[in-house]
Amino acid sequence: MSGRADAFEDWIRTSFVQMNTELENLYFAKDNREQVIGCGDPIKSTLRDEGQAYVVALLAEGNTGEGFDSAFGVLGSVGLYMGALRRHELTNPAREERSPFREASSLALHVGASLGMAPRFSTGHLATHNRARAGIRKSFTSLADEFLFIDENTRGILSLQRAADALTTVVHLGVSSPVADVMFDAAKQALRDVMRFNDRLINQLDVDRFFYSVRPYYKPYRVGRQEYRGANAGDFSGINELDLLLGLCRANDPYYAQLLVDKMLFMLPSDQARLRECMTRTSLLDELLMLVAEHGHADWFQQNARAYLEVCDLFGRSAAQHHDGLVRRFIEAPAAHLNEQGLEGITASGPPLPVLLRSLEVLRDMRLAADRRDIATRHEDLARLRGVVRGYAPLAVGPTALS
Ligand code: HEM
Repeated sequence: MSGRADAFEDWIRTSFVQMNTELENLYFAKDNREQVIGCGDPIKSTLRDEGQAYVVALLAEGNTGEGFDSAFGVLGSVGLYMGALRRHELTNPAREERSPFREASSLALHVGASLGMAPRFSTGHLATHNRARAGIRKSFTSLADEFLFIDENTRGILSLQRAADALTTVVHLGVSSPVADVMFDAAKQALRDVMRFNDRLINQLDVDRFFYSVRPYYKPYRVGRQEYRGANAGDFSGINELDLLLGLCRANDPYYAQLLVDKMLFMLPSDQARLRECMTRTSLLDELLMLVAEHGHADWFQQNARAYLEVCDLFGRSAAQHHDGLVRRFIEAPAAHLNEQGLEGITASGPPLPVLLRSLEVLRDMRLAADRRDIATRHEDLARLRGVVRGYAPLAVGPTALS
């Protein structure tokens, strides 16, 4: 990394975190915690001006050809800086036609375009590619709830990636292989871990601190003229690889295909490539259904179809837990107390909350293969497979803290 990029990142890891934390504590102590404008102005000006100096120096340096890690690091630094400017209402896409931060926009656009990613910080910067220094991860604040959120999100993402890796290996082995059992087991264990980490968030994350002091950094903001949606823990390919390989969502379903297109640039280039490859494969469900008539009674079919169904059960439950536990508890419930103005920009992707909740419900129900007529789920196909597997009973998962 160049000296200037290093200096910017050092600032992001130290003074930037201190200033954001001070501001959060000021807002949080007020009767009206959403009242950000007019609160802590001297700190906000220092944050804006110090960050601007690093940005201007980097912009003057141009593309130094230091490689992917360096460019990705700069995109993260400038993205965290712009995310904080948005959070502190120093910019707001609703009142502006272009970002008032021209140099930061130029830097983000330059680096984002050269990487093939959206010109803003994304989940990779705070999760899978958030490099710890002496144990400390990059963050906006030093609040315990932010670290809890970032860490459990990352653990969840890593586990979903493990499950996706395991199912990709089943594709290579072939769904009739007796060896597939170890990979189905690995996928099941990884999904149980996802639920364990979700449970920890449900039980330990403070609703108000998350809602008022962490979530606002994930609002959409403008880079140049265009507004870019916020990052969310779903911006990695593993979750969609699971959808597609299990066959619960299909890449030719217009709703789902649109979702994939929209999230492509928020993922690392390596994840974009994985997702594209995955979109060309036949799902395990379709493969099993093609084999049912001729081989449904064979031992290998019984064994692998059962393991496949168990993976689906666990995946569906983890999706239900995300929606009915995390989204309800940490977004929907506290948002019920807000007025119309407070609701603006509350979601990371931008649409009004009821619209976002409906679209998340659609995803949950696709992953649960729910019996819904208004969307394309695999309810009937899964029921057919369940009917063929002798004595199939859904897996017992142990207690999860669903609300
Ligand atoms: C406090 C914890 C969490 C809350 C409140 C939460 C809430 C949300 C919300 C509201 C969205 C929609 C994006 C938007 O705001 O516009 C979303 C998307 C998503 N989140 Fe979470 N989330 C949490 C943790 C997690 C964790 C731990 C994971 C697992 C790794 C996860 C996986 C996803 C995925 C995959 C998406 C994209 C939509 C989908 O494919 O389902 N989230 N989340």
